[in-house]
Amino acid sequence: MSTVTGSMFGDLLFGAQLKFGRPLMKALMKGDPFIDLLLGVEDPRPIYDAIRAGGPLYQSKGNALVITSHTLGTQVLRDRRLHICHTNGKAPGMELMEKVGWDGSILNLDPPDHTRLRRLAQPAFTPRKIEAYRVGVERVCNELLDKAEARGEFDLIRDYAGPLPLAVIGEMLGVPESEYDRFYRHGRVIGSIIDGVKSLEMAREFKDAHGAYLQLFAELIEARRAEPADDLVSVLVAAHGEDKVTEHELLALCAVLAVTGFETTTNLIGNATLALLEHPEQWEMFRENPELGPKLVEETLRYDSPALQATRIPHEEVEFAGQQIKADQALVVLVGAANHDPEVYRDPDRFDITREGEPEHLSFSGGIHYCIGAPLARMEGDVAMRVLAERMPKLRANGPQRRRSSPVISGVHTFPVAVS
Ligand code: HEM
Repeated sequence: MSTVTGSMFGDLLFGAQLKFGRPLMKALMKGDPFIDLLLGVEDPRPIYDAIRAGGPLYQSKGNALVITSHTLGTQVLRDRRLHICHTNGKAPGMELMEKVGWDGSILNLDPPDHTRLRRLAQPAFTPRKIEAYRVGVERVCNELLDKAEARGEFDLIRDYAGPLPLAVIGEMLGVPESEYDRFYRHGRVIGSIIDGVKSLEMAREFKDAHGAYLQLFAELIEARRAEPADDLVSVLVAAHGEDKVTEHELLALCAVLAVTGFETTTNLIGNATLALLEHPEQWEMFRENPELGPKLVEETLRYDSPALQATRIPHEEVEFAGQQIKADQALVVLVGAANHDPEVYRDPDRFDITREGEPEHLSFSGGIHYCIGAPLARMEGDVAMRVLAERMPKLRANGPQRRRSSPVISGVHTFPVAVS
């Protein structure tokens, strides 16, 4: 059996840390709504309200300052005095993640390394480049729904929202179709890291899948080195040839693009479908006006954001919102709460795909880490929802959904549906 830490004894200690860390945190920090949130709840809204009532910079017992205001959240994400990493060069939670071989690439880097790597990947994600994939995305949507329709009943996540983004990012990166199975199988396991490592078993499974994933990309990189093609891995390989990126960074960047491009978009499609089925008048309106697709995507991102938090850290004492913040004290923006800030959104808990004239949600973060994949997620969400509404106007829930209880990602694990 493979080990996570390199020895069975190390694994025993690590397993104990994972098993007892959470109950210990719960016992020590009882009565703190932010800690309750971190430990996982199905419906975070009452907790957001409790934190909002605690002031603009809510002081959690875990020593984080928690932000629910849209205005302050925007300021934090754009503030160049704040960083992703602590002064020791590690992003929050990295010690744990590194044990399972995950470094997070640009997600966990500050300038100048962040700037250098971001410059390499960004040109592949301009809205113009992304538009070129629209027809291909439509084709994949239709193929997936053909298979689902033949069955009559299906699971929206397993059979549609899950495979679609993985196929799209696989194609962008240049993963050959013969490897899709391997890519998909390991991608699903790796995507679960967004929720954090919760048990030794999960850590082992993740480490194995991550190793296999890196192997797949190492093979692809070799193939493109020998014969470049019109895909993102070829672009990154060329940059490696010019010494702009190390071999390790190249592999980590491929892995992070595959993971970030996958789980979040799956939940965007799942959450949009869920919100529409829970609001039949909005489903009706969308079916009759499919050109509302981009607005449906934006309202879903606001109403039920797949990404729920973004954290920033000062490297020296700074003044923020009239308060002195110490070096290394985390400022946590609760994106899900900021997107329902009553100071900014009219009737914030109402799902309304015709909203207009309100500021953009924080679901794609802000500042220099604003999501690279936003144009792709927006296009995929638009196409996936239009094709679904057109092909399955009588779509309905066919049993209860199983919601994730994660503090960082909102979505459902399972979503049984029927088409008539
Ligand atoms: C609905 C779908 C998506 C959501 C909600 C989302 C959300 C986010 C958020 C919140 C961040 C910033 C985290 C921070 O500020 O600390 C981020 C960064 C990033 N996202 Fe997305 N994302 C989505 C889709 C995608 C897609 C499709 C891709 C590409 C394949 C992608 C690639 C990235 C990358 C590479 C970063 C790191 C950017 C940086 O740090 O400079 N994302 N995303």
